Amino acid sequence: MKDAAPQTIYLRDYTPPAYLVDDVHLTFKLAATKTRVMSRIRFRPNPEATSNEFFLHGEDLKLINAKIDGEDITPELTATGLSCPVPDAPFTFEAEVEINPQANTALEGLYMSNGMYCTQCEAEGFRKITYYPDRPDVMATFTVRIESDLPVLLSNSNPTGQGEGWAEWHDPWPKPAYLFALVAGDLVNHPDLFTTMSGKDVELNIWVRPGDEGKCAFGMEALKKSMKWDEDVYGREYDLDVFNIVAVDDFNMGAMENKGLNIFNSSAVLASPETSTDANFERIEAIIAHEYFHNWTGNRITCRDWFQLCLKEGLTVFRDQQFTGDMRSHAVKRIDDAVVLRAHQFREDNGPLAHPVRPESFVEINNFYTVTVYEKGAEVIGMLKRLVGDDEYKKALDLYFDRHDGDAATIEDWLKVFEDATGRDLTQFARWYSQAGTPRVSVREDFVDGTYTLHLTQQTPPTPGQPHKDPMVIPIAVGLLNDNGDEVVPTKMLEMTQAEQSFSFEGLASKPIPSILRGFSAPVILEHDQTKAQRAFLLAHDTDPFNKWDAGRKLAQDVLVGMVRDGATPDGAYLDGLAAVLRDDSLDPAFRAQVLALPSEDDTAQALVDLDHVPDPTAIYDAHETLKLQIAQHLQDQLPRSYADMAVPGPYTPDAEPAGKRALGNTVLSLMSKLDGGRQATQQYATADNMTQQLAALGALLKIGKGKAELSAFGEQWQNDRLVMDKWFGLQVACASPDQAAATAETLAAHPAFDIRNPNRFRSVFGALGGNAAGFHHPSGKAYDLLADWLIKLDELNPQTTARMSTAFSTWKRYDDNRQAKMRHALGRIAAKPGLSADTTEMVSRILG
Ligand code: PHE
Ligand code: ZN
Repeated sequence: MKDAAPQTIYLRDYTPPAYLVDDVHLTFKLAATKTRVMSRIRFRPNPEATSNEFFLHGEDLKLINAKIDGEDITPELTATGLSCPVPDAPFTFEAEVEINPQANTALEGLYMSNGMYCTQCEAEGFRKITYYPDRPDVMATFTVRIESDLPVLLSNSNPTGQGEGWAEWHDPWPKPAYLFALVAGDLVNHPDLFTTMSGKDVELNIWVRPGDEGKCAFGMEALKKSMKWDEDVYGREYDLDVFNIVAVDDFNMGAMENKGLNIFNSSAVLASPETSTDANFERIEAIIAHEYFHNWTGNRITCRDWFQLCLKEGLTVFRDQQFTGDMRSHAVKRIDDAVVLRAHQFREDNGPLAHPVRPESFVEINNFYTVTVYEKGAEVIGMLKRLVGDDEYKKALDLYFDRHDGDAATIEDWLKVFEDATGRDLTQFARWYSQAGTPRVSVREDFVDGTYTLHLTQQTPPTPGQPHKDPMVIPIAVGLLNDNGDEVVPTKMLEMTQAEQSFSFEGLASKPIPSILRGFSAPVILEHDQTKAQRAFLLAHDTDPFNKWDAGRKLAQDVLVGMVRDGATPDGAYLDGLAAVLRDDSLDPAFRAQVLALPSEDDTAQALVDLDHVPDPTAIYDAHETLKLQIAQHLQDQLPRSYADMAVPGPYTPDAEPAGKRALGNTVLSLMSKLDGGRQATQQYATADNMTQQLAALGALLKIGKGKAELSAFGEQWQNDRLVMDKWFGLQVACASPDQAAATAETLAAHPAFDIRNPNRFRSVFGALGGNAAGFHHPSGKAYDLLADWLIKLDELNPQTTARMSTAFSTWKRYDDNRQAKMRHALGRIAAKPGLSADTTEMVSRILG
């Protein structure tokens, strides 16, 4: 039974738990439709409690019996939990419940995926396993017994015994219930060993379904690199003798950091050259690192309550970004992260779903696993590090681990550590956690008698529930160049704290050209009216790689906006700038590929909105296609040579260097395809020995309306590989023309290999539909209706993924009356669905505003 009226929960209402848990014993008798869970939990009154009411969360559980100190009790049950009178002293609570993992399509709690049992407890899934105080500030040691005739039975941390049909595990580290995990299945392992900095051997395993064992090696290397890196950079050593990773096909998110037993979406761990792209490899390396890093930032130090989610996620994303930068290229990684932040987080901040990095209220916490909490949360830490400097950051982190190990902590604790370690007052900085919205920093400059002055103004637009905004602390990295492109003032960190503030540089021979917000030093929008010539100059000369790229990006955006709004033709300065970058062998190929990539159509839509222009996705699509063709024509003479230069000899490796060459080679290939009718792409498809080359060639062909034969050959070749088939589904929708996108998605959803219960497959079709801007926003409204139909169906099975995917509609207010009406209609249909989940209800009503 579902709770009829979902409640809004407020940060300000936090109270400490009434009872604490010393330890938990769980016994699972696994059966597909009738699993029994026996619990024995030792409670004691919390001396800090403000109430003595005993309440245990529990949802969709069939209570068989319950006892307190061995005596049968008859507790009061509701749709959300259990309560009963308890002694005013330590006591033992026991319960036996029955659950149905087979029927669990929401993929929260204990569920089944291809015959394997698997759990997902973050954020509030443990309450679907047994009655428990399911909140992160209740931490306990767990002992788990699993009974099943499946061969591999796993739970958190250390194995303590096993026999025919059973296994026992013990986790010595007190943890919140959201970090509990159990897996049972017919699995095979890819084992390895890691010796920690203090000389302890740790047994590592990646567990997969038989047949996937050949796709584990890369993930295992990534794990060992992560373990080493966390020792070298943060001084953090692993704290158990075993570390297990399990791959599961049906999973709502990327992966989960359960203590000692990480569970991964198979797409986030399984890799091979034939089946995975370079981008897949890089993502897997980052996610393995991310989950591993959670062992300290999340598990050893966890969150007091779910409002503090960014405490673990912002920090852990920041750490995985540092790691990827160290493993690959800092410049390239920074650009990738900025692209994601601007495309998704700025968009979130700018619409009805805007919320602070630390939200103040929620109905369904699952709806707050957002780019704002994760990626902006990471940016806030990056700013903190820039402001205090590397050494002080290290001091603060050491103090954080020292002071809070074993705690369920808050953002206040986190900031206090920085204040104590560095002596800085972070009162104003703390606004980054409480104030939603993207600050806009506008720039005016003057030059008088050798003194150059930047006049900066900051302003954050209102967001839902926050009409008034205060000035933020914004680190703004600035360098100055002269007309020859020499750096006359190297990068300097300006600290903006006021609404309006000026910064001067003295003793300059001539008016310099500023390079502002170097390295993307703060997650803000820089409003700086520069001419196309100035942008082209920075694209050619800036010594800061981020700003060099960004100058090209802004130039491209100016060009696209001009084409859509004024029917302008592409600027020669831009095309010449691209030609120079493509030709410049001193630049990293990965970086050159980033410069050659256009902003997304959605970025262009947002740029038009910023200029008070109602965006027409069809016109934007046409402008992008026209510009790509013109770039291809402008670079025509260079393309074959660049393509040949980017060929990688020898066997495939997913390392950054060859991957960068392939990235540029494939960018060039897609341009060549606009001119050669797909000749080169057809050849690349035929000879490709890795998925990166194969998929890029197929995509280039589909984009020019060719590749029918290759598409069906691909489907045939990979029909038994679920992860590759996800690509086959997704690519067709992504590459479909605006007129065909909805029809393509509809046809694919009727394909026998489409499976609404598998989130990866559902996303491959409908995530791609939302991502095909002109197709999704086709004026007929066909795609809106199709997505709404499928979200309505999915909600009955999987509310979490439905709610997440409903964000495709979040930009509805940007568009013309026709599109707005059609999107509102689609949202209204979803909202009106009887029995709609709390997750989707909250999301749709926030989107509608
Ligand atoms: N905590 C996971 C991560 O960030 C994400 C996650 C959240 C997974 C909720 C499942 C459910 O690594
Ligand atoms: Zn995380």
